[in-house]
Amino acid sequence: MSAQPQSVEEVSEGLEAVGYLPGESTALVSYLAARLGKPILVEGPAGVGKTELAKALAKYLDRTLIRLQCYEGLDEAKALYEWNYRKQLLRIQTEAADTGWDAVQDDIFGSEFLLERPLMTAIASPEPVVLLIDEIDKTDQEFEAMLLEVLSDFQISIPELGTIQAKSQPIVLLTSNNTRELTEALKRRCLYLWLDYPAREHELAIVRLHAPELSETVADKLVDIVAMVRDLDLKKPPSIAESIDWARALLLLGADDIDQKTFTDTLSIIVKHRTDLDVVAERVGVKLGSPLGTS
Ligand SMILES: Nc1ncnc2c1ncn2[C@@H]1O[C@H](COP(=O)(O)OP(=O)(O)OP(=O)(O)O)[C@@H](O)[C@H]1O
Ligand SMILES: [Mg+2]
Repeated sequence: MSAQPQSVEEVSEGLEAVGYLPGESTALVSYLAARLGKPILVEGPAGVGKTELAKALAKYLDRTLIRLQCYEGLDEAKALYEWNYRKQLLRIQTEAADTGWDAVQDDIFGSEFLLERPLMTAIASPEPVVLLIDEIDKTDQEFEAMLLEVLSDFQISIPELGTIQAKSQPIVLLTSNNTRELTEALKRRCLYLWLDYPAREHELAIVRLHAPELSETVADKLVDIVAMVRDLDLKKPPSIAESIDWARALLLLGADDIDQKTFTDTLSIIVKHRTDLDVVAERVGVKLGSPLGTS
């Protein structure tokens, strides 16, 4: 596999070959990111394939995936690097008593005592990697500012050691669930990809890919029902992840149709809020009694 994709179609086919069916803009933005060396900011609701896109890109381009999972309170020590204090202490203890501080200092601030965290690993990697910074919206703005520096220069400076320059250009994906607005400064540096619930045919293809043995009738009906459920005003509409789970469950149960009973029995696979369950059972359950879409 070539390191640099040559066209949008190539990216599209490459992702498909590793089991990810990209929408048009997904393939386009991925291609541009690889060629322009810009990070991609992927936003969208839960379960629409944001994280999976990074995994699929890594697989298709045959690159290592380095993942930084963000959470509240994530700091540089866990994202960039930290000194291995224990090892440094041990070294100090084993130095001869008459060793001067300068000699010890030179010794214990060498790369041997550095614990690399994901951002550093990605920058220092001799081979180009895919760097996934997952759920960036969970961190605070200070972290975002630090990240900006890393992403714009692709280098990290360590006061005691010097500057570490990227040896290769990583493909960087940042994902966000929109729990907070990201800074303009970050957005400006990224290509933007909005992933939404897919169109009907697209979702059908994804479901069939993940559950190939499911009959066409059931798969068809499944995506129709999921779309219908999404149209209701729910706390948490079902995502692609839930469509796939439902397809697999129906397959296991040997369902050859989604009738009223099957639907009620398996409803909790796609709807996971108490109040949502009631709404869906009432609104969609009733419709299932008659042919879809005609009630
Ligand atoms: N275009 C696609 N082609 C194939 N599978 C897909 C596609 N989109 C989503 N999926 C499947 O949907 C599931 C959910 O995707 P993923 O975990 O990437 O969601 P997410 O957007 O990162 O969600 P969250 O915000 O909750 O982390 C995965 O199992 C993935 O395989
Ligand atoms: Mg995710």
